[in-house]
Amino acid sequence: MAATRTFSIIKPDATRRNLTGAVTKMLEEAGLRVVASKRIRMSREQAEGFYGVHRERPFFKDLVAFMTSGPVVVQVLEGEDAVARNRQVMGATNPENADEGTIRKVHAESIEANTVHGSDSDENAQIEIDYFFKPEEIVG
Ligand code: CMP
Repeated sequence: MAATRTFSIIKPDATRRNLTGAVTKMLEEAGLRVVASKRIRMSREQAEGFYGVHRERPFFKDLVAFMTSGPVVVQVLEGEDAVARNRQVMGATNPENADEGTIRKVHAESIEANTVHGSDSDENAQIEIDYFFKPEEIVG
């Protein structure tokens, strides 16, 4: 299968604990290549737009507050079947349900402070990549 791309965020709980390198190492060991990366502080508007599909969910306000509470590292990851590969190494959204050895099992603090975000489909990966990166910022 040809290489595809997915979008990843290393969340504030991870940057706070200085885990950017540890998380990236797990992504790389899972066969993903970082082809774009930047550390940013998301604005409220940016976070609300990014998580717009969750706007009506009870956790939306807390989610936006958490995602803007500290720096995040947004990344484009490339690899064979990148979306599925990334989801596998991330583990389940709720770390209590995550498989052993996954990023969330090893590092996540809670369902909200769950260390990483990853796109759930190729279509959303493209939308999410375009939300944070210009084409020239991605170097494969
Ligand atoms: P993420 O993949 O970034 O997409 C939406 C996020 O909402 C999810 O990860 C969780 O971190 C967060 N979240 C917080 N509370 C909940 C909840 N009760 N159910 C699902 N997601 C939640």
